[in-house]
Amino acid sequence: MSDPLRVSGSLRNRLALILIGGAAILALFLVLLVRSYAAQIAQQGQDQVLGASVTSILDTAIIQDGQVEVDFPYSALSMLSTPSDDRVFHAIYQDDTLLSGYASLTRDATRAPALPAYATAEIMGTAVRRASASRTLIGADQRTTITVIVAQTQDALSGTLNRISRTVAGFGIGFFLLATALALWASSSTIGQLQRLTQSVTKRGPQDLRPFDKPVPTEMVPLVSSLNTLMGRLDQSLNRSEDFIAEAAHRVRTPLATVRSHAEAMLQRVGREENRATVRSMMRAIDESSRAAGQLLDHAMITFRADHLERDTFDLVELVQDLVVRLTPVAELKDVTVRLDGPEPVVISGDAILVQNAVRNILDNALKYAPGDSLVLVRVTNTPTPQVVVVDEGQGFPHAQIDTLADRFTRGDNAAGTIGSGLGLTIAQDVAEAHGGILDLSNRPEGGACVTLSF
Ligand SMILES: Nc1ncnc2c1ncn2[C@@H]1O[C@H](COP(=O)(O)OP(=O)(O)OP(=O)(O)O)[C@@H](O)[C@H]1O
Ligand SMILES: [Mg+2]
Repeated sequence: MSDPLRVSGSLRNRLALILIGGAAILALFLVLLVRSYAAQIAQQGQDQVLGASVTSILDTAIIQDGQVEVDFPYSALSMLSTPSDDRVFHAIYQDDTLLSGYASLTRDATRAPALPAYATAEIMGTAVRRASASRTLIGADQRTTITVIVAQTQDALSGTLNRISRTVAGFGIGFFLLATALALWASSSTIGQLQRLTQSVTKRGPQDLRPFDKPVPTEMVPLVSSLNTLMGRLDQSLNRSEDFIAEAAHRVRTPLATVRSHAEAMLQRVGREENRATVRSMMRAIDESSRAAGQLLDHAMITFRADHLERDTFDLVELVQDLVVRLTPVAELKDVTVRLDGPEPVVISGDAILVQNAVRNILDNALKYAPGDSLVLVRVTNTPTPQVVVVDEGQGFPHAQIDTLADRFTRGDNAAGTIGSGLGLTIAQDVAEAHGGILDLSNRPEGGACVTLSF
């Protein structure tokens, strides 16, 4: 087993987090901006009214009979009335002398602007906005400066600002929620492309090394084309090694057959018992090698055909019947009876050559490991799934090894003395898996092996 991949966080979460974070910062920035702009506009409105009030008071200032007279017109006060009944303070100075009003509204000594100047101040612990302006009066023999200061609390203004703030905050939250929904949608749909690719990789069988031909987003093209190149190379090298094994097995088998026929001829001629034993063990080694070469060749063929499975429909009963007939001579040599139980046709879709090979190996085992003068029963049924069950009357599979006997080149302890390469059950299992089925090995309670090949 390969080590589990180390995970470095989720792309979707990262993307969503960045987008949502960005939206939150943007929403906050917008709320602050709109709020400060609204505050500025509201302040300007109050300033204008204060300025108008100051100017209208200043306009009434005259010098009459050497006396300065300043009126506080009703309009100057009424224009300052607000829904929150903000308090209004005023102070009128002639030069540095307070003529009327609050002394705490001090005159700015350094400046006596003609146009109203505005500032924020504090009167009796309350924040006020004040406007001040001056006017120089020129009498017959005097020149004097009248300064008018009008101040107003800011309850109405802060009420308006609070209302605006609430509305803007509502908009900000709405914008944020909308942006969050969009961010989640955007990140899901972006990652969706990756998930589709992942799904199509996962759906493939382990043998499927075809390149991807579905459209992928531009950013994923380098990844997918590297993957395709890698799979192409893997496929090529797998095919090459299977070809190599098949070729090698084929080349070995032919000369082995020649050597065996020579050895057989030699056995006829040799008289001394020890020499005959040597030749017999030579022949056995040759049989082992040629069985191994044959099984390797079959295995390579199976692997190749399983990779490019071509399905046909055929009757499993007919196929097994055919095999049983062909194996009868071998069975008769051992006095073994092979009985087929397949009352009804079992039609399946698959590669008949592969299935034939698998069943042949299972039957071959039954004949090889069962004792002489026994019965091998082959049952072909369609319930619960199409399957071939082969039971014999031998010793059965060695218990401790039953789970590993289908591994490559694995032979059981009971196989000592019989010729074999440990590939028969591997072939049967590969064929079952290529058809989406399984190979099951078990021992019958009454003794004997039971092999089930189901599709
Ligand atoms: N019917 C059976 N009864 C008892 N043991 C069996 C039976 N079939 C298989 N086995 C055990 O399973 C092992 C693996 O079987 P497999 O067919 O893969 O290899 P093999 O028969 O040894 O060699 P070959 O590749 O030539 O068939 C055998 O060596 C044997 O120990
Ligand atoms: Mg075998």
